[in-house]
Amino acid sequence: MIPDVDNDSIVYLNGEYVRLGDAKVSVLDRGFIFGDGIYDVVPAYKGVPFRMDGHLARLERSLASIGINVGWTRKQWEELVLNMLERSPLDNSMVYIQVTRGVAKRDHGFPANATPTIFCMVSPFTRPGQAAREQGLTAVSVPDVRWLRCEIKSVSLLGNVLAKQQAVDAGVDEVVQFRDGHLSEGASCNVWMVKNGTLLAPPRDNLILEGIRFGVLEELANEAGIPFQSRPISEQEVEQADEIIMTSATKEVLPIVTYNGKPVGTGKPGSVYEKLRAGYDKLVA
Ligand code: PDD
Repeated sequence: MIPDVDNDSIVYLNGEYVRLGDAKVSVLDRGFIFGDGIYDVVPAYKGVPFRMDGHLARLERSLASIGINVGWTRKQWEELVLNMLERSPLDNSMVYIQVTRGVAKRDHGFPANATPTIFCMVSPFTRPGQAAREQGLTAVSVPDVRWLRCEIKSVSLLGNVLAKQQAVDAGVDEVVQFRDGHLSEGASCNVWMVKNGTLLAPPRDNLILEGIRFGVLEELANEAGIPFQSRPISEQEVEQADEIIMTSATKEVLPIVTYNGKPVGTGKPGSVYEKLRAGYDKLVA
């Protein structure tokens, strides 16, 4: 029995549909031994995946960037997601897909002929409620000590785990990470700021994971006539931001209203956030 999950829910593991409570992988799986694998998380509303193409394209990029060849077409990945959603009774959910390099004798170099492990589960997902949307979240800044390939959605998440724990220990909702004095991202979300009506985000480079909501927010900003720039953002700029916003598949779009113990702008969710949130809600609907 794994606590806090539906042990009877059906997961996909290497071609079979099995109970979550019964799904097992070898201790020599390279995902377990080395964190040698990648993942993606596709949100779904009322059983319909949101921006599935973007998520699967990123999954394929992550696989290619670490040299795992599953040999699946885009259509096969789509069928996996849709099959999983069909089997799930959940209303709103997130489809988690993980691929590792497979099971092999422990040796750092790639094994000659391991078969990738493919795992997929559907978990419940509660959309951010009234409180988070209207009262906003709290965050503190921390140094970004992760590796230099953050654009890969790797399952080696120790850096992100340790970052998130700093938020937990500080009694806040999120961390905002900085590398060499510049904004990177949250522990598991992208971070944006607003100054004088312009929406700013860090460059889409190897120092952040480009969220699927990155493109979505850019579109929404365009539609709403909000100027948008993707460029290096200093720690001082974030301190003096009118608004700070975070995005991820599960948090969608949320305002950060307290940063390092001080109010952001007015200390209330700002007007740029309100417009982007309204746009996002419309897309989901
Ligand atoms: N995390 N940056 C990091 C480090 C992330 O882990 C995530 C998502 C994002 C936002 O990406 P997207 O908009 O595609 O969700 C940015 C997922 C939700 C997770 O790890 O569960």
